[in-house]
Parts: sequence; C-alpha cells; structure tokens
Amino acid sequence: MRYKVLSVASEVYPFIKTGGLADVAGALPLALAELGMEVKTLLPFYPEVARAIPRDATTVVFEMEDLFGGPARIRSAKAAGLDVLLIDAPHLYDRPGGPYVTTAGQEHPDNWARFAALGRVGAMIGQGASGWQPDILHAHDWQAALAPVYLSFSGGPRPKTVVTIHNLAFQGNYPREILPGLNLPSTAWSLEGLEYYGSVGFLKGGLHAADAVTTVSPTYAEEIVTPEGGMGLDGLLRGRSNRLVGIVNGIDTAVWDPGADPMIPAHYGAKTLKNRAANKRAVEAEFGLAPGDGPIFAVVSRLTWQKGMDVLAGLCDDMVAMGVRLAVIGSGEPLIEGAFHAAHARHPGEIGVRIGYSEPLSHQLQAGADGLLIPSRFEPCGLTQLYALRYGCVPIVSKVGGLADTVIDANYAAVVAKVATGIIVDEVASAPLLDAIDRARRLYDDAPVWQAMQSRGMATDVGWTASAARYKDLYASLLKDRP
Ligand code: ADP
Ligand code: GLC
Repeated sequence: MRYKVLSVASEVYPFIKTGGLADVAGALPLALAELGMEVKTLLPFYPEVARAIPRDATTVVFEMEDLFGGPARIRSAKAAGLDVLLIDAPHLYDRPGGPYVTTAGQEHPDNWARFAALGRVGAMIGQGASGWQPDILHAHDWQAALAPVYLSFSGGPRPKTVVTIHNLAFQGNYPREILPGLNLPSTAWSLEGLEYYGSVGFLKGGLHAADAVTTVSPTYAEEIVTPEGGMGLDGLLRGRSNRLVGIVNGIDTAVWDPGADPMIPAHYGAKTLKNRAANKRAVEAEFGLAPGDGPIFAVVSRLTWQKGMDVLAGLCDDMVAMGVRLAVIGSGEPLIEGAFHAAHARHPGEIGVRIGYSEPLSHQLQAGADGLLIPSRFEPCGLTQLYALRYGCVPIVSKVGGLADTVIDANYAAVVAKVATGIIVDEVASAPLLDAIDRARRLYDDAPVWQAMQSRGMATDVGWTASAARYKDLYASLLKDRP
C-alpha cells in the first residue's frame, strides 16, 4: 500500500539541526519512501533553512493572512532528496538565534505561538490545504504535537495521527494565559485535552489526541511508564500503553559511511581498519593531544546532566592517570563546559576540548577516536552510539533507553561468544563509570579482542530499513479499518 505521510518536525537534517531529532526527521522519510510511501516533511522556514533552500527554488502552495499575528506562505520544494513543505512566516521564524533560543541563549518568548503555528499548519495540510491529502500525520516531539490536537477539533477529512516522543524532558508547557491565543474551542481545556497541572501542555495534549504514540527505543518505552522515567506523564502514558510502541532509531548509512565520508581524512572499512590510524593522528593534531599508542576516548554530546557529563568531567584526572586521552566536542551547561576547560588546562596534552557545535569534527572523532563515552542518565535512543558502531569507535554507554537496546556489553560471556560490541556501565556515578573506562582501556590493550569488537560493531545493522518497516506496519494498523 502506498501511504501518503506528512511528517511534521521543528528540525530536519541537513537543513537545520540541534540534535538527534533532526537526524531522525531527515532520514526516516527517505527510508519510508524506499518502502514505497509518499512522504512530505513540514518544517518552519528559519533563516538557516532559507540559506539551504532559497525562496526562488520553492513554489507557494497556499497562503494565510494571519498565522499567529502575521501572514504566512506555505512553500514546497525538493531538497536533499526530501519533499519539503516550508512555513514562510517571517514574524515567527525569520530572526537571529537558533530554532528555539535567541543568540543570548534564552528561549524565544513566543515559542508557544511559533510551534502552535507548526501544529496548526500541519493540521491544515492534514486536511488537504496544500492539495494533497495525507493518510497519516506523523508529529515529532512537543513542537509538532498540537497538530493532532487541532485535527481533533476540526471536521472534514482527517488523517490518522502518530506522535513520536524523542525526549520526554521537553514537553512544551506554557501558562494558561496563552490558551485564547491558540484559537481552540474552550473544551480543549480539559484533562483529556491540553490542561496539564494548571498549564497548557503541548506534548500532553498531543499524546491524548494522537491515534498512536511511539517512542524511539523499546527500553525507553518501558521507562516512561514508570514514575521515575515518566516525568509527570507516566500516568497518561500507562493509560495509553496499548497504543504505545518503542521503535529504535536507525541512522542514515549514506551520510555516515566511513568508506566514503567526505568529512574524514582517511576512508576505511572493517577489512581495512588499519587505515583508521591516520584519522587517529588527525584527532591528535586537531585536539592538541600528545601523540601516543594509548587509547583516545571521545565525547560528542550536549554537555548536560541528561548526558551524565557532570560525572564524566569529574573523572578527567583519573582517566589521565590511567593512560587514557580524551577529546571532547560539545556545548551545554556552563559549569560542565568550565570543568572540561579546567581539565584541559591541567592536562593540555591528554585532554582536548572544543566547546561548540561542529558536524565535521563529530565525524572526525567517530572516525579517529578509539571509544565514545555516553554515560547518559536517560537516553530515549541516542544516535552517537550508532554512528560509533558504524565507525569502529567502541561505545562505552550507560544501561538506559536506546543505549541498552543497541550495545552488547563486553562481559566475559559475550567476549567468549564473540558478540560484544561495546562496554556498558550499570550506574551513572563516578566509581562505576571509572571502572567501565578502565575495563575499556584493558580491552583496548588486548588488540585482537578490541579489533573484533570494532569489526562486529561495523557489521551491526544500524540502518533504517527494519525500523521504517515497523512504522509502516503501525501506519497499516491505523488505516486497516478505513473504508
Ligand atoms: P540528543 O538528540 O539527545 O542530543 P542524539 O545522540 O540522539 O542525542 O543526537 C545527537 C546528535 O547531535 C548526533 O547527530 C551528534 O553527532 C550531534 N551532536 C551533538 N553534539 C554535537 C556537537 N557539539 N557537534 C556536532 N554534532 C553534535
Ligand atoms: C532526542 C533524544 C535522543 C534521541 C533523539 C532522536 O534528542 O534525547 O536520545 O536519539 O531524540 O530520536
């Protein structure tokens, strides 16, 4: 069956990216298209998107006089293999800063309107406003979650709706005062609607309104129905558990291909692992590390509490004492950034730190470091461990969410059975994490075992095909009763 799917997201690689959501929203439509589906992707026309897709490469498909305080044109274009629909509404999106924050790092004060607009336009396209009637509207995260809410309050043709939770820590909760601005009937303010402990909950409303809810790994699907992992929404999610599935993310294996990646100095494959050495030398040079034979472990991450980076930053001296070098690219909480800077100042030849965001450096670390550290306190899926597996960079991860679902720990049995692909730490605290790093270092010293882990990781299926098929099955189950 050739379903028509409208994917709605606030960031989509390669046009605009702040994290894994963009990677998924950019790659899943391509994988669904390969399974024969017709997918269009709706996103805001931020300045960065306008640089990637100039206005004169687009066609206006419909116009609105007033979308939350100003006019809007909905444009369509083909770019990077995707069929995109763009909300060109300068009063909402044409401004400096990132998609969510100002240049000073503060939330845009009208984010509620900016993302209500995304949901509103999504719902309109869901009802055929662009001259194309989708069967499925697939909304990603809170920024798109009002799309099913708007649909549930409008008559006429309606696609089935799916909301995917990429991170329950971000829910889009706003004071009740914004409610009139959303232009929804007063009945939307209810326990089954937007009302969430006295405020307006975008994600909460979307989870109620959607025909199905998914999240990005089976383990995270289990974690979010518990009080510890549910971040206040576990009750609602338990109530929807017959409609909640965890589908693990894949990665775009064309963008992330060590045999052809234009961002890395030396190409290699599982049979030519020795060519990786040139990438390790390049990492040493780039991060100012003293050349050596010992392992380099890397961090490519938001530097936040979620990612366990506070704990890791506290272990720098111990790692150096162990003979481990560390290369970090990331940005986030100032205290954590400062702790890594200070560690670099104490050990300039052993700890290299780049604060910021760099797509090329992220590829270069995956291609040249020996291991990738991901000690997250929670991790809905995580993509960097999947890139690491594909690049022969052994992931050292905590036992949560998608990390637990995608890495096989090198315990004795797994090493003997030749199935290990990484190192798993049970608890995100200093002593266990240091033990895991030490275990990784010792495994690294056993070259045949380490290389076998690298090759196995590289042979692991981390592509989208299997998971895209699961989304297709989900869509089919929602559409089966359709006349
Ligand atoms: P999250 O979305 O929670 O940050 P994921 O692991 O799903 O975590 O995705 C993070 C994405 O962002 C990956 O593609 C990773 O390579 C990228 N990334 C994170 N930090 C940086 C950085 N400082 N520079 C470049 N890429 C980064
Ligand atoms: C979120 C999660 C991350 C996940 C990504 C893509 O940013 O924090 O774990 O991989 O979304 O689904």
